[in-house]
Amino acid sequence: MTIFPNHAALDYDDRIVRLVPGYPLSLDLMACMLATRFNGPCRILVPGCGTGAEVLALASLLPYARFTAVEPSPGMLEVARRKLALARMEDRVTFIQGMIDDLPDDQHDAATLSLVLHFLPDDGAKAALLAEIARRLVDNAPLLLFDAVWSNATDNALGFWLQQQGHDEETANAVLKRMNSQWHRPSPERVSQLLAEAGFSAIEPFFQAFGFLGLRAQRRQRR
Ligand SMILES: C[S@@+](CC[C@H](N)C(=O)[O-])C[C@H]1O[C@@H](n2cnc3c(N)ncnc32)[C@H](O)[C@@H]1O
Repeated sequence: MTIFPNHAALDYDDRIVRLVPGYPLSLDLMACMLATRFNGPCRILVPGCGTGAEVLALASLLPYARFTAVEPSPGMLEVARRKLALARMEDRVTFIQGMIDDLPDDQHDAATLSLVLHFLPDDGAKAALLAEIARRLVDNAPLLLFDAVWSNATDNALGFWLQQQGHDEETANAVLKRMNSQWHRPSPERVSQLLAEAGFSAIEPFFQAFGFLGLRAQRRQRR
């Protein structure tokens, strides 16, 4: 598990758009999918909310939604709080510093999980996080997942893209090396399998840019 250190929050918003192709678009698409699903009050769970980018994107298009934003890093959560306050949306968000296990079992109508799963090894940790999310969703609730998957074929092109974003060659190579040595990138098939085992069905892609995949899934009905 990688809980971000506080200093990572300072320039996270600037860095992430130059590290992850399609990051802002994937958040916009998530917001559009949920905005067309919910036109009244709803509760949305955002584990690993980081600096609040997902919450902001969603809150802008879903005026009646309330959010549970969970984040283990105090520095990241503080930036999220500040951004939501600036947008005058903080009263729609319950901020929880901690892990999803720290949450009560309250039921939510939807969840997003963006750029968190790759930090967890596939030794039961990924499965446990997805199961904890499923446990807190009502039947048929959508989960929108965006994350890195294994993509040998496109990593060279990703390195080139990183240089187009202003990174020098050494930095781009270091990013790729970190992705290979420290991230736990499953295959797209494995992500679908993990989702199915955690209680989700109707799994389909909504976005892909190189090895960054957006999947929509639905909480299966409890018997
Ligand atoms: C790359 S950031 C993504 C933040 C945000 N979701 C986004 O898309 O910008 C990953 C965040 O997940 C948090 N994190 C790491 N492991 C976690 C876990 N097991 N559960 C929840 N959050 C976690 C980190 O502290 C970090 O803030």
